Amino acid sequence: MANQDDQFKKVISHAKEYGYIFPSSEIYDGLSAVYDYAQNGVELKKNIREYWWKAMVQMHDNIVGIDASILMHPTTWKASGHVDAFNDPLIDNKDSKKRYRADVLVEDYVAKIEAKVEKEIAKAEKRFGDSFDKEQFVATNPRVVKYNEEAQAILKRLGQSLEKEDLVDVKALIEELGIADPETGSKNWTEVKQFNLMFGTKLGASAESAMDLYLRPETAQGIFVNFLNVQKTGRMKIPFGIAQTGKAFRNEIVARQFIFRMREFEQMEMQFFIKPGTQKEWYDYWKETRLKWHMSLGMGEENYRFHDHEKLAHYADAASDIEFRFPFGFKELEGIHSRTDFDLAQHEKFSNKKLQYFDPEENKSYVPYVLETSIGLDRMFLAVFSNSLVEEELENGSTRTVLKLPSVLAPTKVAILPLVKKDGLPEVAKEIFEDLKWDFNVTYDEKDAVGRRYRRQDAAGTPFCVTVDHDTLENNTVTIRHRDTMEQKRVKIEELRGIVAQEVDIRNWLLKTK
Ligand code: GAP
Repeated sequence: MANQDDQFKKVISHAKEYGYIFPSSEIYDGLSAVYDYAQNGVELKKNIREYWWKAMVQMHDNIVGIDASILMHPTTWKASGHVDAFNDPLIDNKDSKKRYRADVLVEDYVAKIEAKVEKEIAKAEKRFGDSFDKEQFVATNPRVVKYNEEAQAILKRLGQSLEKEDLVDVKALIEELGIADPETGSKNWTEVKQFNLMFGTKLGASAESAMDLYLRPETAQGIFVNFLNVQKTGRMKIPFGIAQTGKAFRNEIVARQFIFRMREFEQMEMQFFIKPGTQKEWYDYWKETRLKWHMSLGMGEENYRFHDHEKLAHYADAASDIEFRFPFGFKELEGIHSRTDFDLAQHEKFSNKKLQYFDPEENKSYVPYVLETSIGLDRMFLAVFSNSLVEEELENGSTRTVLKLPSVLAPTKVAILPLVKKDGLPEVAKEIFEDLKWDFNVTYDEKDAVGRRYRRQDAAGTPFCVTVDHDTLENNTVTIRHRDTMEQKRVKIEELRGIVAQEVDIRNWLLKTK
């Protein structure tokens, strides 16, 4: 594919064409940064959620799930610090009147430097072939070293300025780097200002008695306020975790990367409650465990990296992102945060209720520390979808578009195709369909030549096509074609369930994390 922009456009149009994602309320020209999941999208999203839930809740004896409400008592957000500190630094361009996130402008500038590094590496890889030592090249090539040092220095300064709330320096940095409005090229900037990201709403019928609420900007607080309820009713012993998936809302200003940054999105979060002082050990554990989960999906080790934070959120003593190589470069996919006792201690203070754990081993009560893993479900969807979309050149010189989704996540596992629409083949195909639908999401397709139907299923991401032909009537066998290899095998109808199950079974995929 030609370049990053083209590839990204292709991802967006493919997502629409194959029933994965539509712009929200499209008949009214859509709503900025809000999207709807379509018939295939909703299945892929559900499968990703389930893949996470199985790994985090079902496979951990000491982690349980909850489903807290989106609306919470407004004091929650005072206590959590979101009312005072959940801000983005914004800058306006005086000529174009466009508004940007100041930190994102700088990060995009750094991403361009990083792209130059990638280009140098790719060039050298080509030149040196098998003898290429990437690590050595990155450490010693003067141009790459210079680029990397420059990128690090910029990020460090940005991090420090944001940490100190020194917005004057953030603007100075933008000016020193000569960053221009990406849309117009103008460098005529306003001052940098803070802007709160929470959506407000009201509870109650009359204007006078209505209570001001917020739509939750993270699911985590629903877990914190339920910490003691779960601990007591579940008789949980530290260390233990509470997991949750659900919607979160942020009034994002820079929302121009499809489902990467949305105003309404879904998070999959887990808060792990631990003994104070053990946070470093658990931080390392969860970084490693979460990376393994990602790796189990086989989307390429080289597409992930950790980014340890310079600028820490108001609640954290350490934080790292798992970044993924999206079509527009490496960006945050998941955060692992060591949140100390900040949240529980704040909720104790604001609610006047004790949120402590009695540790029988220590024979004392304390406010536990918390290790959080937080991943955006929509962002994970984009990672999986964009990584899977490939255009392949075939031996006969033609190309095919194929969505190589990890089969465990694919919305439809099998397409059942009668070779022709007559001679009793549709009837047999429908029987197979009726039988397999008890175990898998299957689809039936009898329209067009079988080659075209294969291409359609390839592009929709279906891992298996089963074709019923005239031999089927003779000997109860069908061909099963694999999406990625296009290999076709003749098998007995009764073997189908086992073949598909082996390939899509969550256990087989998750075991790769071990
Ligand atoms: N509870 C911690 C927390 O919310 P965060 O880094 O602000 O931390 C966690 O968000 C994850 O949620 C991110 O890594 C990202 O995957 C996802 N996320 C955050 N804002 C998002 C947005 N506007 N649209 C889509 N996903 C978002």
